[in-house]
Amino acid sequence: MKILVVGGGGREHAIARALSRNSETEIFSVMAKKNPGIAGIARSICLARETDVPRVVAFAQETGTEYAFIGPEAPLEAGIVDQLEAAGIACVGPTRAAARLETDKAFCREMMAEHRIAGCPEYRIFHNTADAIPFIRDHEGDLAVKPIGLTGGKGVRIMGEQVDRAAAIAYVRQIKGGVVLEERLRGEEFTLQAFVDGTHLVPMPLVQDHKRAFEGDLGPNTGGMGSYSMPNHTLPFVTPADYKHAIAIMKSIVSVMARTGNPYKGILYGQFMNTANGPKVIEFNARFGDPEAMNVLTLLSSDLPDIVTRITDGSLSQSQVSFDHAATVCKYLVPAGYPDSPQKGESLTLGDPKTATLYYANIEERDGQLYTLSSRTLAFVGTGPTLNEAEQAAEAAASAVKGRVRHRKDIGTRALLDRRVAHMKELR
Ligand code: AMP
Ligand code: GLY
Repeated sequence: MKILVVGGGGREHAIARALSRNSETEIFSVMAKKNPGIAGIARSICLARETDVPRVVAFAQETGTEYAFIGPEAPLEAGIVDQLEAAGIACVGPTRAAARLETDKAFCREMMAEHRIAGCPEYRIFHNTADAIPFIRDHEGDLAVKPIGLTGGKGVRIMGEQVDRAAAIAYVRQIKGGVVLEERLRGEEFTLQAFVDGTHLVPMPLVQDHKRAFEGDLGPNTGGMGSYSMPNHTLPFVTPADYKHAIAIMKSIVSVMARTGNPYKGILYGQFMNTANGPKVIEFNARFGDPEAMNVLTLLSSDLPDIVTRITDGSLSQSQVSFDHAATVCKYLVPAGYPDSPQKGESLTLGDPKTATLYYANIEERDGQLYTLSSRTLAFVGTGPTLNEAEQAAEAAASAVKGRVRHRKDIGTRALLDRRVAHMKELR
């Protein structure tokens, strides 16, 4: 079976690696920059922008690819699935219309409200951003300010926490294409990813990501500095009732999408805030999370190519999907200065990373030497029977890397987990 993986980050390296565990699978890759990990697995690669849809379709046809797995959101918004399917290539990823769940935050909230899907915070949509300003000026209390369109995960500002009223207004003035203002949710975040075939949804282990750049959840938001998951596939601050509730919300989304003529297939990513009143939806993504894909795909014990065929032909069921009952901790190494002024072109040397699984991300290999680029560099995933062992495995590998890179030492530690649990207790 021939599968094209679109995208060149850590997430796509994890997808390609999981697909390649089946020796009958041939992997092809389209990526903007040559990811050495993916290049080492792929039969052939095409270096092109992932949003250059005609180029991707042409490459898929030249190579005789039958399936495509779309990693990032930008090509989904560019209609890559519509075009690949028109060329007879089955895709793991939603059509452009169904991907609006992620690419259009107003569409997502309106759908949740119209179909009375639980977990929707209070919100107001302003297609004309100027109209949001009087509302912000008069609003008492905190607000989440979100551009309607894609921002690469860095578009949200919390008035009352990160920014004051004046800065929130200044921010809104520079947003193009409308804004959603939302009730500020308080609680602990978790990620629920699921395989979806249009009607059936099969959940993956829960993961918690860490968006802030520095230890102790300080500093600016990033694409995600690392993440962890527990051996029982849930999280200690999520009760069985919360978990059921989150799955029910995701299933409602899938059934409404099917009923309204936009059946959703691919990976559905739910980002939840577990609040005093149970899980609320922060947003949905139409793809795997990065880093969260690395946690769950390292654990996946079923055949991913088989899951790919089932997602595309609508025959997915829980009994074909299983994950090892181990803990995982993923730590991203990022260039010094990331995210505000990342130092590109710094050479780095890996230690002996045998304790953990290495995934390459935004990194360049020249004459056998590795160099940083401007985004997240590479990640290590440690696994183990306990969170502590998984954390030590990831930490040992991450700290053995030499060069001008850094990582968060606190991700997956007992101290951080205890803080999350205490925070949840305090809210409930
Ligand atoms: P997003 O780009 O939607 O993933 O949001 C980025 C981050 O902003 C999330 O991880 C949350 O920490 C925060 N956030 C988004 N929406 C809200 C909200 N309604 N209340 C509180 N925090 C939020
Ligand atoms: N880790 C968050 C995301 O992939 O959007």
